Amino acid sequence: MVFAENKNDILKKIKDINSFEELEKLRLYYLGKKGIIPESLKGLASLSIEEKKTKGQEINIFKKFVEEILREQKTILENSQIAKKIKQEIIDVTLPPNIKTAGKIHPISQTIFNIIEIFGNLNYSVETGPDIETDFNNFTALNIPEHHPAREMQDTFYLEGNQENNVLRTHTSPVQVRTMLKNKPPIKIIVPGRTYRSDSDATHAPMFHQVEGLVVNQNATMVDLKSTLVLFLEEFFEVKNLQYRFRPSYFPFTEPSAEMDVAYTKVNNKIKIGEGNNWLEILGCGMVNPLVLENCKIDSKVYQGFAFGMGIERLSMLKYGISDLRSFFELNYRWLDHYGFSVLDNQTRSGL
Ligand code: PHE
Repeated sequence: MVFAENKNDILKKIKDINSFEELEKLRLYYLGKKGIIPESLKGLASLSIEEKKTKGQEINIFKKFVEEILREQKTILENSQIAKKIKQEIIDVTLPPNIKTAGKIHPISQTIFNIIEIFGNLNYSVETGPDIETDFNNFTALNIPEHHPAREMQDTFYLEGNQENNVLRTHTSPVQVRTMLKNKPPIKIIVPGRTYRSDSDATHAPMFHQVEGLVVNQNATMVDLKSTLVLFLEEFFEVKNLQYRFRPSYFPFTEPSAEMDVAYTKVNNKIKIGEGNNWLEILGCGMVNPLVLENCKIDSKVYQGFAFGMGIERLSMLKYGISDLRSFFELNYRWLDHYGFSVLDNQTRSGL
């Protein structure tokens, strides 16, 4: 044996090591430039050829053995370091959020949560549909004739190269069609979602949000429609005895159709909804046109319904005193910090 230590002792010595520094020290002790293995190889020079051969072989076997267990031990140390790190970095998802660093909920999302909550209490359920719609769902089934201005290029984003003449939906009304084709009455839904029109200025954005409402049963009336909307708006704007008016209007998919205005006053340049001498248009509505029911395979002699649609940005701007529509879409963190909502403000959680 060339070396004083036996293999078992070395093995034990290396296996006991639990830091990279100590391991490196041992590596240098055995294999470093001045380590005992290179030194013993140097020592071979003075030996006879025979001795060089046997001793040389012995040293090399020993060297391989030491290298191997050093390598093994290094891997063990590395693995235990990773395990330790993973353990330290564990995130307890059940801890309460750190409010100071948390993001904020966008006012549009907050408004949607709010709308869902109010209609949820009235037993409405939430339906959704795709942003890309067929021409049939967005127009034809809704009794919007071919020559209707809403179909013209300046309003609608058409998608090229598809057989169904797909469009980016211009309103949430196509989800009325989808729901009626899928379900039998009674139907009682709201549909919050994104809508698109090729229009962009201080009061129009090419992408905006609407919420649609649809009730179909055997006895829905205009009075139900009216009381539902008044109840919703009083809840939403947190006002009692809301002053409002219904004006006759025209939508191809409702008959009769109306637009609803709410009264407001301007106090210190801020709009206060509920009373006053000014009127603000807030939504469109009406009794579902029997032609639409028939297009959706619902017997219009048995069933009737009402529908309404409103712009979520407008509701949000009025409720939270936001004056510029475009600020909703500017991704300005300071704006969001000011107008956004804390996660804990929300009673209703929704994936929308
Ligand atoms: N879809 C109409 C619009 O975008 C709103 C509406 C919905 C009107 C339902 C009546 C009934 O303007």
